[in-house]
Amino acid sequence: MAKFNVELKKIVDSSYDIELGYDLSDTLVKDIKNGLLGKIKKFAVVTDDIVEPLYARPIAEKLQSEGYYTKIFSFKNGEKSKVRATKEYIEDSMLESGFRRDCCIIAVGGGVVTDLAGFTAGTFGRGIPFINYATTLLAAADASVGGKTAVDTPLATNLIGLFNQPKKVYIDINAWKTLPPRQLYSGMAETIKHACMADKDFFDFLSENIDKIYSFDKISCEHTAELNCRIKYNVVMKDELESGLREILNLGHTVGRAVETVSDYKLLHGEAVAIGLVAETHLSHKLGYMTADEVQAVENLLVKANLPTKIPDYIDTEELVKKLYTDKKVRDGKLRFVIQKGIGEIVCFGENSYATPIDEQTAREIIIEISK
Ligand code: GLY
Repeated sequence: MAKFNVELKKIVDSSYDIELGYDLSDTLVKDIKNGLLGKIKKFAVVTDDIVEPLYARPIAEKLQSEGYYTKIFSFKNGEKSKVRATKEYIEDSMLESGFRRDCCIIAVGGGVVTDLAGFTAGTFGRGIPFINYATTLLAAADASVGGKTAVDTPLATNLIGLFNQPKKVYIDINAWKTLPPRQLYSGMAETIKHACMADKDFFDFLSENIDKIYSFDKISCEHTAELNCRIKYNVVMKDELESGLREILNLGHTVGRAVETVSDYKLLHGEAVAIGLVAETHLSHKLGYMTADEVQAVENLLVKANLPTKIPDYIDTEELVKKLYTDKKVRDGKLRFVIQKGIGEIVCFGENSYATPIDEQTAREIIIEISK
């Protein structure tokens, strides 16, 4: 029989801009008019019910007044909406409203919205472009940049998804002012994670200026937004698909993601990451990579940032230990952790290897150590 080779070598350029600023809706509309999305004239604005009246509707109205066919697809705010059922609801609603392949999704909101909308864009009509308009510190610090898109499943967070890069990211610093305080603090956990893994000066800046950031001091917020972006995209540019280096962005997430799921999302993502960071600094200390003072400095900053540092008493230790195995870094059935080295660095365990196997009993002991 004949044998064929379907040659599909590709050179792909997925580069995109991240724009930081205040009230960027006019900039977004101007970019679209100037051809950011080519000839696309149809826009599905994906958002949640809290962000919709504040930012999504004004963006949709501006696009409509410029003659673009625009519809809003909104779902209930919160991590519990980041599931396949919501994706299906958006897809079916878009199809019923006449959206096909000649459209673009504009995600307006926080991490739940950008993760869900980016994943939907990746599969709708086998792939349509999308833009992220990030309105939360968490989305600015992490979710909107880097192209990780996903939904949660009953087993754990982010298990089903795609690497799918947006066409542009807008980070609206003004929007942080409308965040409920807990959400702002939650975003700060990913910011502190960035400082812990890559930048001691940024860690010191956060330790000295957290109150200024929380009172929306312009210079402090801009510096925070800029540093977050720079740290994140420098990792993503080197390892988009997480074949090695990108695992460092998982600092605090092995315990963090597990505790978030086991709490049944009573803990916000950043709150869970804060607890995960404490767990992983304790582990780092145990392995000899952090001094007791450095561990304390991380905990002090998290406390200053109004973030939890202990595993709540309603979390069952054994359920949490079991949940650790849902982590994507698990290899050959073994737990693997990213380990912080002092403050501002991550331990490299060999060529392109940034996570190390940790036995279950050690993980259990750390969890017990930081439980209430
Ligand atoms: N949130 C971790 C990453 O983007 O890789």
